[in-house]
Amino acid sequence: MATILIIYHSQSGNTRHMADAVVRGIESVDNVTAILKPAHLATLEDLLSCSGLAIGSPEYFGYMAGQVKDFFDRTYYPARKSKKIFKKPYVAFISAGNDGTGALVSIERIALGYPLKKVYEPVVAKGRITDDVLTRCEELGMTIAAGCDAGIY
Ligand SMILES: Cc1cc2nc3c(=O)[nH]c(=O)nc-3n(C[C@H](O)[C@H](O)[C@H](O)COP(=O)(O)O)c2cc1C
Repeated sequence: MATILIIYHSQSGNTRHMADAVVRGIESVDNVTAILKPAHLATLEDLLSCSGLAIGSPEYFGYMAGQVKDFFDRTYYPARKSKKIFKKPYVAFISAGNDGTGALVSIERIALGYPLKKVYEPVVAKGRITDDVLTRCEELGMTIAAGCDAGIY
């Protein structure tokens, strides 16, 4: 059975709403399990054992949240050494006040190093989390889940 790990950080709830929508999308696919974890609680083992990864972050000061960066800092070398991470599929979703570019670019750059494989266009929400944003997050979750289940990545 495929498992998708969703790691996220959220202070005022916006990224968490998006993460919950990603989970709904994942769970709409038979035989796929979503594991939702705040980034500071996610472990190397979570990363190595999942079939795919969804990374959610607010933009803080033109960058990803420190907690998401900390997850990368803790797992980067051991994940590369294990080789279990090589080109594992991932998707990203960002909540920002009015931009989001810096958070997204910083995640995408680090993902290249693991290396992870981007399998769907990221969702970047600016301002209020609308129904459209949540629908796109559900699609994001459904897409990576269906792809992992089918083994197409
Ligand atoms: C410390 C801090 C720094 C922020 N920096 C940015 C920023 O650089 N660009 C931006 O568009 N929004 C910025 N914001 C707004 C947040 O990205 C936005 O409110 C986001 O939806 C918060 O997500 P959350 O509700 O999951 O915590 C910042 C917010 C905080 C608290």
